[in-house]
Amino acid sequence: MDQKLLDARRDRLARSLELKDELLLVGAGEPVHIPGGQDQTYPFMTHQEYFYLTDRECEGGVVAYDPKDGWTDFVPTVTQAQRVWEGREQAPGTPLPELAGWLAARRGRPIVALGAPITGLRADTPRTADVRERFTHARRPKDAAEVERMRRAAAATAPAYAAARRLLAEAARPGGATLTEHRLKVEIEAEFGRHGATRSAYGTIVGFGSNAAVLHFEPSTRAAKPGDLALIDAGAEIDRYAADVTRTLACGEADGARRELHAIVLRAEERACARCVVGAEWIDVHLAAATDMAEGLVQMGVLRGSAAAAVESGAMGLFFPHGLGHLIGLGVRDASGREPGRAARARKGVVTIRCDLPLGAGYCITVEPGVYFIASLLNDAANRATHRDAVNWAMVDGLLAAGIGGVRIEDNIHVTADGPENLTAMIPKGLG
Ligand code: GLY
Ligand code: MN
Ligand code: MN
Repeated sequence: MDQKLLDARRDRLARSLELKDELLLVGAGEPVHIPGGQDQTYPFMTHQEYFYLTDRECEGGVVAYDPKDGWTDFVPTVTQAQRVWEGREQAPGTPLPELAGWLAARRGRPIVALGAPITGLRADTPRTADVRERFTHARRPKDAAEVERMRRAAAATAPAYAAARRLLAEAARPGGATLTEHRLKVEIEAEFGRHGATRSAYGTIVGFGSNAAVLHFEPSTRAAKPGDLALIDAGAEIDRYAADVTRTLACGEADGARRELHAIVLRAEERACARCVVGAEWIDVHLAAATDMAEGLVQMGVLRGSAAAAVESGAMGLFFPHGLGHLIGLGVRDASGREPGRAARARKGVVTIRCDLPLGAGYCITVEPGVYFIASLLNDAANRATHRDAVNWAMVDGLLAAGIGGVRIEDNIHVTADGPENLTAMIPKGLG
């Protein structure tokens, strides 16, 4: 990233933190050893807060900010072993051992410690919480460099979905090749790599049939059968910026109930995307999507009574047990949470939600409604008793027995003053 842009980002951030005499220290973090793995470590990723300020991976790095004299980048001295084994080069900056002197010269001033923990540093906990809230909030509107990476991540994700469609169509043909969830995951991730991805932004989810009802399903050796729904939730990451996309496809021809379910979720998803405008309260966008899907389930005959009542009573929550989405950008989970100063609040019909904030210009958020037939929720005796009249349980039993699974559709929306921009719109949403 261009140094001028990075400096501008730091300046903007510093102003929004409103520090007076506090010192800000942001740790990159250290590699984590795999237990019993001797010299092996998990793949290293610097803390999001450090990365935002430096745009680089730097094990053990610390960025320090004194509102009286600006930013200093402390970097560990590269060792000979690191040069020999990893080809690592010295990162530019002030040698890390000089951090102690920097702190000593400012003794007695409160310390705010963000990023990964820094060994030996005594932070002021309440001020740290306060500054972190402001830091997170300041990162919500994405700058041009961030959105450009997200566009590239989306562009690397699209061909993987095209490949998934081809493979599912092939698997549905008489005598077609066997396609397991695991194989499809591998093909998807290979396509990401072929189109410029650094890696997958998160664990790829592929669930066929009833496995589509497990929200974060780990792909198994189950093979696709003609007529199955295939829920694929996968996104490429480029230079730490993520796409997070879900499509539910069919292996061959889906039956009427599966098509109906897909149409219900698709309509709700498209309406929810259109509601992502500046100033919209996310919780309202969530509830509107839940109500749209409840209307569809009433029409389909799965729910009884009014859609609004099904949402309020929690009956809809049995079929849509997660929030509508989360902020995305620097990683798949980026800067979600509450508007500064806002207390946690419960709203009727909201089962779980990762964000409680009004959408601002520049925010990037996933929109990912879903309807699932989750056996553990729907076979729970207490749930059946509570929602005895609101749910057509005989129909639910039939759909569970048919292994319908579920449908989720997810896009990444860039909220702008001119309206929502769907960064992942190029990935078709149809069943097959
Ligand atoms: N990829 C997980 C999620 O949609 O949040
Ligand atoms: Mn997802
Ligand atoms: Mn998501």
